[in-house]
Amino acid sequence: MKDLGGKVAVVTGGASGIGLAMARAFAAEGMRLVLADLDEDGLAAAADELATGSADASTVTAVTDVSDPEAVERLRDRAIESFGAVHVVCNNAGVGGSGLSWEVPLEQWRWVMGVNFFGVVHGIRSFVPLLVAQNEGHIVNTASAAGLVTTPFMAPYTASKHAVVATSETLKMELSGHEVGVSVLCPMWVRTRIDTSSRNAPPEVRAALGRSEDGARQGGPFAEVIAGLVRSGLDPAVVAARVVEAVKEDRFWVLPHPEVASGARARGERIASGRPPEFNPASLTPRSAERQGGQSTPFGSSLGSTREDGWTTE
Ligand SMILES: NC(=O)c1ccc[n+]([C@@H]2O[C@H](COP(=O)([O-])OP(=O)(O)OC[C@H]3O[C@@H](n4cnc5c(N)ncnc54)[C@H](O)[C@@H]3O)[C@@H](O)[C@H]2O)c1
Repeated sequence: MKDLGGKVAVVTGGASGIGLAMARAFAAEGMRLVLADLDEDGLAAAADELATGSADASTVTAVTDVSDPEAVERLRDRAIESFGAVHVVCNNAGVGGSGLSWEVPLEQWRWVMGVNFFGVVHGIRSFVPLLVAQNEGHIVNTASAAGLVTTPFMAPYTASKHAVVATSETLKMELSGHEVGVSVLCPMWVRTRIDTSSRNAPPEVRAALGRSEDGARQGGPFAEVIAGLVRSGLDPAVVAARVVEAVKEDRFWVLPHPEVASGARARGERIASGRPPEFNPASLTPRSAERQGGQSTPFGSSLGSTREDGWTTE
């Protein structure tokens, strides 16, 4: 879709981080926006900001829980009532979390899969028929580097993002023959509020995590490492610019960190040669962060030495 001016974009998770950055980037292209999120105040602030940024900005907000299929149907209806059409759908809302696979409460497994994976499924089910019927549109699914490579202590997140990548690849093949593009976004660390995702957790997840209502970080030493890596991550505006390019140029893979491609290649080589997965903490640090001095880890080693290709897996 070369010219985005006047077209309509729906962005879930649009109140913060990557979603908000995408909204800003689409608004700069002259798009009309439907922002969906659980965070009502965040949505209002985003709409205010976009309204002051451009005289032409036209933004509708919809409080939506993407893990609820009926809520996503209502989001589609709201978009159509507001603008009469939808052209770009960014299934972006997501939550993080960490812990050992066998210790992460089942409630957390279900919550992370429900938002990160089923949120995307619901977006596909509600919007793709519309885009196919008009034979024009583009779906952007936010996965992660964790959709292409694996790391310990993040099993629900990694599983959900692998599912998003697999579903996006499937969708791309199924939509061949239609003028409906698909992109899958797989960044490493981005400077957002993902490390405080538990602020969005439903009560049963908070209870299972043993956390108070204040939305504090989820516990465990790995959570602190993630928070540091997120703080040293890419500016979300850089990621959003790559998404706009991908929509305009109909590009499937959106990998804002080049290290992710080499990580995926190294994983493929490991699989082909029969070597099992092996964790090296350095694999968590993109070269850009390393140049700024790396991170310290609870594993007793510095995240400071990567291979020439920027991804240490050995
Ligand atoms: N920040 C990173 O390092 C990073 C890296 C790779 C992928 N991602 C992915 O990017 C996406 C956006 O996350 P972010 O980093 O901008 O984090 P963020 O916390 O800043 O933004 C996520 C937004 O999603 C919303 N949200 C959470 N649960 C929701 C639900 N059930 N329904 C609707 N909205 C909900 C939150 O309120 C928030 O506004 C996620 O899918 C995340 O997994 C982030």
